[in-house]
Amino acid sequence: MKVIKSLVIVFTIHVLLANNVVSAKQWQGENNNTLSKSEFTLAKHCPPSFELTPQGVCRLLTQYQFYTSVQNKGLGGTQTNLPPHRDGFTPAQIDLGRYLFFDPALSKDGSISCASCHQPDKGFSDNLDRSIGITGEKIARSAPTLWNVAFVDKFFWDARAKSLEEQALGPLYDPLEMGNTPEKLLATIRSTPTYVKLFAQAYPDMQEIGLEQIYTSLTAFQTSLISLNSRYDRYAHGYHQALTKDEIAGLNVFRSFVARCAECHQPPLFTNNEIAVIGSPEPEGRKLDIGAEKTYNAPKLKGAFKVPTLRNITQSGPYMHSGRYKDLREAVKFYNDGRGNSIPEGEEMLIHWHISEPNLTDDELDLIVTFLGTLTDESLTPRIPQQVPSGLPVIDEKYQERSKAARTQQKLNHNNENAITQSGE
Ligand code: HEC
Ligand code: HEC
Repeated sequence: MKVIKSLVIVFTIHVLLANNVVSAKQWQGENNNTLSKSEFTLAKHCPPSFELTPQGVCRLLTQYQFYTSVQNKGLGGTQTNLPPHRDGFTPAQIDLGRYLFFDPALSKDGSISCASCHQPDKGFSDNLDRSIGITGEKIARSAPTLWNVAFVDKFFWDARAKSLEEQALGPLYDPLEMGNTPEKLLATIRSTPTYVKLFAQAYPDMQEIGLEQIYTSLTAFQTSLISLNSRYDRYAHGYHQALTKDEIAGLNVFRSFVARCAECHQPPLFTNNEIAVIGSPEPEGRKLDIGAEKTYNAPKLKGAFKVPTLRNITQSGPYMHSGRYKDLREAVKFYNDGRGNSIPEGEEMLIHWHISEPNLTDDELDLIVTFLGTLTDESLTPRIPQQVPSGLPVIDEKYQERSKAARTQQKLNHNNENAITQSGE
């Protein structure tokens, strides 16, 4: 895993921050590999890029907050402000959330944690087209990244949850994901002495650990996953040399009125937090996923999905809700193959008006892919705890075996699909 090399605050802002910011190493309480249970402690400082307010909570500071609103900056303007960010958690709540996030004790059989499907070194996703849960069976969709999830206001591909707290109920209690029940989860946490101690530190006013504190901690941790210091960002803040000629050319294609990518994948987050019907295909043999039609009970949203961020996009493949595209070139080419190119026969879908027929050249598609590579910034990757309060292994072998098998199968399927397309040509 990547280690934080330096404080990663851009330009002038580091002066502002100097007193309050710590490195990730200092931040996260533990400092050696062999902690005994009594040695678990929670961080007292905010994560890097956050400052501690007089009220004792962490506030995000970024260069983007100094820019005015999205208005009047044109399509894909670089110096635009960010939407509101969910913050205001204490350092202890964030750090407790980190332990919970990596602890397989949150699943029914202790075999998977949130981090099994949202792995820090895989763009907080899992390299699988569709994730596998405790049964080893593939679930319906691909695991989205959690980078910058603090700026998101609707969760899941079909936008069915309105907060991170509400979102957490999905994986925790879905029989195909972590398979737990609220009663069992609470019993597990309450009977783990280290958690009892840590929750008391993080929530000094609490009478007894409740589900609410578990969801709040998971939320607090996730809001610290900030990625806003990529080479693209340095360019956006005015350092032209941060990008190569090709990368700038790629950015220009990306935000051109021909390709229109930036209409939906709007800087600085590379999403506009909307849902849209783009008509991306399901994998061979799977029936149409109606997406947000179900959430809003609105037929015109058949096949609508949340516009995903493209931050750290090179790390989080396979792509789209279905994991249908193995690499970025395939995903980008989809937009060039014609409006509605993948709508199954007999289905009607109201494809979004910004999905056009851009007729980009192969070179232009390559340039977009090159540009997307500049959106990588994992400098604030949190540390994976060496141990978690339950004492369970942080990533369980059973899960490792199951996901290895699933990846091998995925490769075979992909090769078969390629063979079929080639022989069909
Ligand atoms: C079995 C794999 C798996 C596990 C375990 C898992 N997730 Fe996920 N996660 C997914 C998938 C797949 C989706 C998308 C599901 C959908 O859209 O229907 C998702 C979606 C999310 C989202 C929504 C992101 C967005 O932008 O909409 C968040 C947040 C999230 N997970 C956090 C968590 C947390 C916190 C945990 C632990 C409590 C967790 N996940 C456990 C696979 C998993
Ligand atoms: C009308 C809005 C819209 C426009 C315009 C648009 N996209 Fe998307 N994009 C989406 C939506 C919605 C998804 C998710 C669709 C799905 O999962 O089926 C998506 C998914 C993606 C993904 C996969 C992300 C992931 O995490 O899996 C990439 C890459 C991408 N878009 C790049 C582009 C590029 C490049 C362009 C311009 C050629 C573009 N998009 C134009 C809405 C849009």
